[in-house]
Amino acid sequence: MHEGARTDLGPLSRFLGAEPRLGFGAWAVGGAGWGTAGAEREREAAIRRAVECGITFFDTAPIYGGGESERLLGRALHADREDVAIATKVGPRDDPRASLEASLRRLNTDYVDVAQLHEAFERWEWQLEKLQKLQVEGKALALGLCNATHLQLARALSIAPLATYQAPYNLFDRDVEERELPLCRDRGLAFLAYRPLAAGLLTGKYAGPPQFPEGDHRRQIYWFKGKEFERRSCVIERLRPIAQREGTSLIGLTLGWLRAQPGVSIVLVGARNGTQVDQVFAPDPGPLAPDTVGQIDAIVSDVFRPATGTPQLGEAARTWGERERFIAARLDGKTRYEAVAAAWTDRGDQPMIAAQVKVFVDQLVEQGLAEV
Ligand SMILES: NC(=O)c1ccc[n+]([C@@H]2O[C@H](COP(=O)([O-])OP(=O)(O)OC[C@H]3O[C@@H](n4cnc5c(N)ncnc54)[C@H](OP(=O)(O)O)[C@@H]3O)[C@@H](O)[C@H]2O)c1
Repeated sequence: MHEGARTDLGPLSRFLGAEPRLGFGAWAVGGAGWGTAGAEREREAAIRRAVECGITFFDTAPIYGGGESERLLGRALHADREDVAIATKVGPRDDPRASLEASLRRLNTDYVDVAQLHEAFERWEWQLEKLQKLQVEGKALALGLCNATHLQLARALSIAPLATYQAPYNLFDRDVEERELPLCRDRGLAFLAYRPLAAGLLTGKYAGPPQFPEGDHRRQIYWFKGKEFERRSCVIERLRPIAQREGTSLIGLTLGWLRAQPGVSIVLVGARNGTQVDQVFAPDPGPLAPDTVGQIDAIVSDVFRPATGTPQLGEAARTWGERERFIAARLDGKTRYEAVAAAWTDRGDQPMIAAQVKVFVDQLVEQGLAEV
């Protein structure tokens, strides 16, 4: 196995531990896509504050703030370069060499610790091969992949010596539990969990569906509206007393839940200013105890109960497309939406995620074709 792929002995090993660690997600400090940006000074100070809190893993991408996230990291981390890991990405339509070399200039460094392919589009296999060449040249110490299906991930492992896989994971968004996380555990890949706070929702700060300003990417996120917002808010209200009992915040509870999940290596949390950095990284209560994890899971399962098709569903589904019929046939009151989506994705054509199943099931419930 290539040295860069070993997460136990390879170049990443000193940034990983026996237990999952918190890492700094540098999207929001890039200053775009998250509502009104704070002053540059304040965003740079947030990164410095994270270093002071003991954070050693920083995730960025050329697309975050159009390069601004990388530029700020380059400035803020320069003095500590040897002691921190920087993971950046290559866009799915970008030339790996041109992209990574531009990232290195912005980051003001000779190497990144991880170069990750941001998404697996048409030419992703070619891109991985190119990334491997850059790794051999020492421009990336390790390689990673983000947002792929488990089939792509398994194939990627035969193309390049991958060390990391990055995907969304929090107590609501659990697709990875079906296939990708077990695969990472089996193959010794470091799993980097992103959006651990569900883009801020799991801080518990929203009393009602938020109205994000123009240009804020959260305007498009389905859990900030409609039925999904209601369900998630219902869970959050039931989590508050647990957090209080544990002597932590909702953020601490949420991150502690993730840090108790086997196979998670780094939990990448976004913070846009020093106050958020302190609230996220300074308390560091560590992983939750198994009993507490069990209580949280029970609440989530209770609110997100699998739907059952009504007797009219079979007849109505006859004329639907294959994806819709596939979902309809699995509404048995037992099968998790993540399992339905993973079973579809196993077929190897178009992927499906649980969010698509939930949105479709909500429509069926409205039409009287399913019940929860
Ligand atoms: N590979 C990928 O495709 C991909 C995709 C997404 C993210 N990521 C990575 O994962 C990282 C983390 O994900 P994320 O940033 O999208 O989501 P997140 O960590 O779930 O949420 C971060 C947001 O929560 C809010 N927040 C954080 N701490 C808070 C506090 N103490 N009080 C109140 N609000 C607080 C902030 O937004 P507001 O203050 O604006 O509410 C912050 O930007 C990213 O920065 C990025 O590095 C990767």
